[in-house]
Amino acid sequence: MNSVIFGQGYVASILNVGLQRIKDGEIGLEGIPLGNSISKMIEDIKIVGAFDLDKKKIGKNLGEITKDYWDKNIKFDDDYIIEEGYRDNRKGGSIDLKEELERLTDIYEKKDAEIFVNTITTESFEPFAEEKEFLRRIKENDFKRISPVQFYFYSVMEYDRPSVFINCIPTMIANDPAMVKIAKERKKVIFGDDGATGATPLTADILEHLRERRRKIMSICQFNIGGNTDFLSLAEPERNISKERTKAGVVKDILGYEVPTHIKPTGYLEPLGDNKFVSMLIPYVSFNEAIDEITVNMRVNDSPALAGNIVDLIRLGEICLKRKEYGAIYPINAFYMKMPGPIEKPAIAKIKAFELLERWLEGDNISGGERKEI
Ligand SMILES: NC(=O)c1ccc[n+]([C@@H]2O[C@H](COP(=O)([O-])OP(=O)(O)OC[C@H]3O[C@@H](n4cnc5c(N)ncnc54)[C@H](O)[C@@H]3O)[C@@H](O)[C@H]2O)c1
Repeated sequence: MNSVIFGQGYVASILNVGLQRIKDGEIGLEGIPLGNSISKMIEDIKIVGAFDLDKKKIGKNLGEITKDYWDKNIKFDDDYIIEEGYRDNRKGGSIDLKEELERLTDIYEKKDAEIFVNTITTESFEPFAEEKEFLRRIKENDFKRISPVQFYFYSVMEYDRPSVFINCIPTMIANDPAMVKIAKERKKVIFGDDGATGATPLTADILEHLRERRRKIMSICQFNIGGNTDFLSLAEPERNISKERTKAGVVKDILGYEVPTHIKPTGYLEPLGDNKFVSMLIPYVSFNEAIDEITVNMRVNDSPALAGNIVDLIRLGEICLKRKEYGAIYPINAFYMKMPGPIEKPAIAKIKAFELLERWLEGDNISGGERKEI
């Protein structure tokens, strides 16, 4: 399972560290939903390369990079060198997409990669919807219209072997019909969009609980304050909008009605580091118009939460390739993603999604419901 990472940041580095510690027999499988209960073993995952844009990272070995995120000694089986990624030139500068494509796919070939994990900084983007439009913009070298993730996705589509694109950030890939169509045509698997960790899956399950008891939710307030570079970058409004889109979509899909919400990363506080603070308030109407409310406070180590899910996603990608199932795979996305693609499918509570996932693993053909009209 040769895997390549776009964005060697906190999440990716903790993924490398955790996988190595499992292989070294130092830790258990906590935080990996499927553990070793599936046919593909955790020990067989090989991360063989990564791309980043940070000058302090490019050309350095993995071991040096992870020192910023993990202060104990660790020796990696594959201490790869970080390659230079695709630079965002939308606000100035120039780039030849054809040359970039060749450069990237050459590296994929040399690494014999088949799984691609996207954990770059959350970016602004516009979906394409039409496959022709996306391909035309690429052909015309219109790099101002194409976000880095959309270009990475395209590079994987052009790479000459069946492969998997795991999109852990909000850019619509599994939710963009243009991308899903290309993936199906070119024998590629898409998992996305935006890894579901921390408060969002818990909120989804609380909403399902209240829906089943016919309690009418009045509003949802959810704060997230953290001190890692992800939170720092989300202080930029256009990046935060991308996140808001994926977080708020869950509410409509599960409840079937609109609710006033404030669900977004709300602040950066450096001393909190990776251990973010989450607070939630959900007032609702019960029998005889009684008003109750749920409040939740949590501290969540942000990066390990996503890294544990990626351990499953890499192996599930292998299973999809073996089964020759291509496009956006809903029974997997419904559990692991905030906005599970394809776009016509709803976000559902994670407790329900886990059952879908188990049925899919047993070989059931799962189509999933249609997105509710609001
Ligand atoms: N629980 C979680 O931590 C969680 C959950 C869901 C989604 N995410 C998303 O995962 C992503 C990674 O989170 P993180 O905490 O590792 O962030 P991070 O800031 O530590 O790492 C992001 C890395 O991507 C690099 N990068 C930026 N643009 C790039 C490009 N065009 N090509 C290659 N590399 C590029 C940055 O230099 C940095 O090293 C974020 O977008 C975050 O929103 C995280």
